[in-house]
Amino acid sequence: MLIRPRRLRKNQKIRDLVRETVLTKNDLIMPIFVDENLKNNEKTPITSMPGQFRYGVDSAVKECVEISKLGVPGVILFGIPTEKDEFANSAVNENGGVQKVISKVKAELGDDLLVIADVCMCEYTSHGHCGIIKGEEILNDETLEILGNIALSYAKAGVDIVAPSDMMDGRVLKIRNVLDENGFKNVSIMSYAAKYASAFYGPFRDAAESTPQFGDRKSYQMDMGNSREAIKEIELDIKEGADLILVKPALPYLDIVKMAKKISNVPVGGYCVSGEYSMIEAAAEKGWLDREKVIYETLLSIKRAGADFIITYWAKEVAKWL
Ligand code: PBG
Repeated sequence: MLIRPRRLRKNQKIRDLVRETVLTKNDLIMPIFVDENLKNNEKTPITSMPGQFRYGVDSAVKECVEISKLGVPGVILFGIPTEKDEFANSAVNENGGVQKVISKVKAELGDDLLVIADVCMCEYTSHGHCGIIKGEEILNDETLEILGNIALSYAKAGVDIVAPSDMMDGRVLKIRNVLDENGFKNVSIMSYAAKYASAFYGPFRDAAESTPQFGDRKSYQMDMGNSREAIKEIELDIKEGADLILVKPALPYLDIVKMAKKISNVPVGGYCVSGEYSMIEAAAEKGWLDREKVIYETLLSIKRAGADFIITYWAKEVAKWL
């Protein structure tokens, strides 16, 4: 034998030397649930996501400060409002939970933490869909107006990046135009470009109380069997002005992460979603998996597939190990 691959696996030093992919703190973004129904200093555990919490405004700010101190570069905020209606009106409330957290965190931390806000209607609508409804139809163009207003409201609060996750056609361009017309040309757009209609969002929907009250999200989120359609969505979003793109979920869609990296020239993120989190936590709780090793392997695999960064509920914890 002339070639023996095992020579390069002989000890830890040689393995460290030749490892192609590394995971660093700089790769991580931590999701935070801001719950307007809680008192400022309260937090409450999320049953379907052990180890995760919904935070009142001040406790969310405190959490952001800790996350920043650990060296995690950013957080992504999701809101749970007190009031829901058909048009997600509470999402544009300038005194809304997400808006307050954005402005308080920016006042306290400035550029020490990137604040990203998920832009979507589903947490704020009585029907739980990501757009305006007419009967059972989710209206596209009418929804764009509202998405633009939500993004603008976060921009006014001082957000660094808005992240539209609704999957309406044309939303990136709409949001870009609204931001630019209002003097927010430096607010970036991180689009959920390839977002699949996935059963892995289940625990999140419990956490954010955003389960659709009728039907499902298949008329706007992508079909799980399609990969060429992801190219179409990614190319469209980049043309419309997306600065960064996301593939979501991550683990069951690593082929899409890899392709996204290959076909695009913008940073690609993988969103390791609630179901990916909870299934590993559940198996670990049963003692069936070595929790820390599996978490590390999972996140590294998302990077190896080509992700430049990862949104993960483990961001805070993993930052302590790295
Ligand atoms: C809002 C949104 C969802 C997630 C992120 N933004 C839920 C959904 O589309 O149903 C899911 C995140 C996760 O599961 O961790 N549209």
